[in-house]
Order: sequence, then C-alpha cells, then structure tokens
Amino acid sequence: MTILSRNDPCWCGSGKKYKKCHEALDHMVESYRLKGLLVPERAMIKTKAQIDGIRESGLRNVEVLDRVAEKICIGMPTIEIDRIVYETTKALGGIPAPLNYEGYPKSVCTSVNDQVCHGIPDEDAILEDGDIVNVDCSTIFNGYFSDSSRMFMLGDVDPAWRKLVEVTHDAVLKGAQAVKPWGTLADVARTVSGIARANGYSVVREIGGHGVGIEFHEDPWIGYTEPEDEGMLLVPGMVFTVEPMINLGGPEIFEDEDNGWTIYTEDGSPSAQWEVTVAVTEDGHEILAW
Ligand code: MF3
Ligand code: CO
Repeated sequence: MTILSRNDPCWCGSGKKYKKCHEALDHMVESYRLKGLLVPERAMIKTKAQIDGIRESGLRNVEVLDRVAEKICIGMPTIEIDRIVYETTKALGGIPAPLNYEGYPKSVCTSVNDQVCHGIPDEDAILEDGDIVNVDCSTIFNGYFSDSSRMFMLGDVDPAWRKLVEVTHDAVLKGAQAVKPWGTLADVARTVSGIARANGYSVVREIGGHGVGIEFHEDPWIGYTEPEDEGMLLVPGMVFTVEPMINLGGPEIFEDEDNGWTIYTEDGSPSAQWEVTVAVTEDGHEILAW
C-alpha cells in the first residue's frame, strides 16, 4: 500500500486531496485491521462516481427483469427468456454480462426447480405448471456491471415450494438490510443462514456472492452459511451481491457434466435464490439492483 501525504491526490482517483477524501476512512479501516479483523483492499472500495454508474446499470437490469416478469408463462421455452433478456438489454443500451463470460453461451441463467443456478436457456426446456424458476440477469452499462435475480412461480406451485421461495426472498431482504458500515459480512451470513435454518432449509456452501461493479465477479467472495468468524469488515463504497441459494432438502450439489455449468441439488429437492446488488453507504446500505 502506498503511503500518501495528506495533500496528494487521493488514491481513489476522485481528484480531491487525500486529506479531503479517503484519509479518515483509511484510518478507520486501519484501526479495525489492528484489532484483527479482515479488512477490504482499496480496490473493493468504489467512488461515488463509480456507484452512480453501477446504479444506472442496476436500473436497466431491473427493467430487464420487469420485462421477463411481464412475459414469463407456462409453456414458454427458457430460450424465450434468453431472447427477451438479450433484446431488452440491447434496447436499453446495455450488454448482457453472461454472454460469452468464461464461455457461457447465453445472455441469462434460467434455473428451474432442482437446478440451483447457471441453468442454460434451451429450446427444449419448456416451463410447466408448478415450476419455480430463477432468472438471473446481469447488465453491463457504460462499463459498469450490475447483477440481480428473481424467482417466478408458475401456476399451481406446491405450498412447500412456494414457502421456500418466499422465505428465500425474506432471507435476501433481511440479509441486505443487515449491511451497514463497520459491520461485517458475518452479519449478512448469520441473518441469511438463521432464517434458512429456522425453516428447516439448507444453504448451499460452495457457491456464493461477490463484489461487483467494475468487473462481473470481484473480490470478496461471500458465503451465506453459518459464519465461523466475523468475516470481512464492511466499509462505505463496497458493492457486492447478496444471493444465497437455499434448498428445501440437503445442501449437497453437483455440476452437470455435459454442459459444465448447471448446478443441481444432489437429492433432487427444489432450490430457490434471489439476488440483489447492494452498496455500503455512510449510514447503512443502498440496494442498487433487484
Ligand atoms: N449471475 C451469476 C451470479 O449471480 C453468474 C452467472 S455466470 C454465467 O453471479 F456465466 F453463468 F452467467
Ligand atoms: Co451474482
């Protein structure tokens, strides 16, 4: 870490003097580090201008999901969701972040029932009465990334599955509301895992959330199972996702060997996920995309 003199331009690129910009914050972070807490790297702390950019991206991501919500129905092949996402994102001036991301072939993930995440839209995957579907959208707008997902329940959904979807929604909302400066990522994980456990559900361990904004997936990695330690300090300017995958049955999962992407529950039980992009603010948090 470079040591700046107080009159140097701030490391964040704002153009302001260090003493008028991030100096006080750096001292605060350092005091927590000295107490033994894991603290974020500077690269994890966004400027106001960057957060403005991520918010603009998030607004478009939400519009894309709103369009999916209007159109999704029983009998629709999931490839149609891909078309809606691609066309709508383009019309809004954005780029779907999943398309060609590490070889991913489509513009969105559509994960149905026991698919935990990374379901690939397909001509032959027809949505049926009683299905629960996660639609996970990510937008690049003006160079900034946003990432959020929703569940859709089609027709006559089993009450136990419906409750899984609703409780997962509550867990994500409460998890995001636990985000505050000088708290930690364990506050989020404890909130989410507590709600899941109270309802007899399990939280997927291997796949978590992530920093987001300048890249699709940035540090830190974020787990939502019962935390073993305090996790990373939350500092104003951090932007990350809250996106637990919660299973009606056990937490074990496996990956589709053929496509190398799609994750399923081992026991075939349904899995639900909602995702928000959230920023840590001076006095709490701001949800930038849902
Ligand atoms: N949108 C997913 C997330 O929430 C990532 C999907 S990667 C993809 O992090 F390549 F499958 F799109
Ligand atoms: Co994500």
